[in-house]
Amino acid sequence: MTTDPQALKQAVAQAAVDYIEPWLTSDAVIGVGTGSTADLFIDALCLKRESFRAAVASSERTAERLRQGGVTVLTLNDVASMPVYVDGADEINPALEMIKGGGGALTREKIVASVAERFLCIVDASKQVEWLGRFPLPIEVLPMAVASVMRRAVALGGQPSIRTGFMTDNGNPIVDVAGLKILDAPGLEVELNNLPGVVTNGIFALRRADVALVAGPRGVETRLSH
Ligand code: 5RP
Repeated sequence: MTTDPQALKQAVAQAAVDYIEPWLTSDAVIGVGTGSTADLFIDALCLKRESFRAAVASSERTAERLRQGGVTVLTLNDVASMPVYVDGADEINPALEMIKGGGGALTREKIVASVAERFLCIVDASKQVEWLGRFPLPIEVLPMAVASVMRRAVALGGQPSIRTGFMTDNGNPIVDVAGLKILDAPGLEVELNNLPGVVTNGIFALRRADVALVAGPRGVETRLSH
């Protein structure tokens, strides 16, 4: 198989649609993530639009792509349960804990994922890491708390910077924190959640993936959380 990054994303996106096939039923609502890998998943999912009821999107960008593909998009408040949420990640460790938010959609991603029965993460092999933190950790912050959160990030050993020219779908800035070696992902996720002014941090450990599909030179492999 190829090592071309785009082809790997394409392969894992198609594998995800095949994986969730058992849950594509007439009453099913599917949770859909955000990013370049999720975009390819959306394109493949739209070809199956007659097989399921609707989707919930984790960003305006994803909602628009789903609608253009003919899929009904519901708001999360209209949905009590979803069999599966499918999304990419910036990093994923062997416990299937992730860093997400490179595309800035972390808050809605975390909310939609929290409602889904299963989280299916779709990545190429370059996203696999032993420990999280080489990818700068995104934190969505209320505007007035940017400086105080950045000071706390420095105290934690990180190097924070504001993502320039960017606002989330919720109208907030993102602080990216480089230089963290995250050995206790759930612990740091809770600690950052507790900082006043933090909307969401990009550690997905309290709600980690249940399954990861990983595309590499030997094909798409399935990893289960353990
Ligand atoms: C967006 C995300 C994405 O899942 C993450 O950035 C991976 O994106 P891509 O598939 O483009 O590499 O968390 O907020």
